[in-house]
Amino acid sequence: MERLQKVIALSGYCSRRKAEELINEGKVKVNGKIIREQGVKVDISDYIEVEGNDIKKIEDKVYYLLNKPRGVIATAKDDLGRKTVVDLIKTNKRIYPIGRLDYDTTGLIILTNDGELTNFLTHPKNEIEKVYVAKIKGLITKEDLSKLCRGVIIDGKKTSKAKAKILKIDKKTNSSIIKLIIHEGRNHQVKKMFEAIGYEVLKLKRESVSFLTLDGLKSGEYRELSIKEVKKLYGDNKK
Ligand code: URA
Repeated sequence: MERLQKVIALSGYCSRRKAEELINEGKVKVNGKIIREQGVKVDISDYIEVEGNDIKKIEDKVYYLLNKPRGVIATAKDDLGRKTVVDLIKTNKRIYPIGRLDYDTTGLIILTNDGELTNFLTHPKNEIEKVYVAKIKGLITKEDLSKLCRGVIIDGKKTSKAKAKILKIDKKTNSSIIKLIIHEGRNHQVKKMFEAIGYEVLKLKRESVSFLTLDGLKSGEYRELSIKEVKKLYGDNKK
């Protein structure tokens, strides 16, 4: 027996939080009866309908790891008709990206139809590690880099501790390449962190998320994640 909101989230229909809202709104039926209280236990023999949908018919879960190219939008749909990360993946499942990468940012992004994994990887308390490589304008100093590591104020709130390493300083092109490791996922976080210490990001790539890397994937290429890898994402990041 499992809690109703968990079973709905595990089906991939929506997140657990959203399932709780739908229960409150009277949009969930178990064996034909509307359930409004939270925490009701159900099992596989129960017939569960969410907003009129039989959740057993909801698709199997799928997971893709994409090396996102530049010039592709990291949403499931774009109102302006631009190419999205979902357009790059051959699937008939209703997938969407976990988190965001900017239009001009490249690198690792996970796509899925699993609301539970999405919640887990994006919840700040789980502090999932992300590694970025940024090319910035100007020759960065060690002092500025340590400011970045201690935390800078963006959107009125200090960023948590980060790790950073200078990979290259190029006097000829007046640019620097920095590896930055962060555990948050705020909007445009890396660009804003550099902006906060007076540097402009010229290029940005995400090289890893947790233990997942881009190994073997050229720009625009993708592969499926194995169930073992999905389990490891939860296991390695248990808090
Ligand atoms: N930080 C940014 O500024 N942009 C991204 O795309 C990802 C992290």
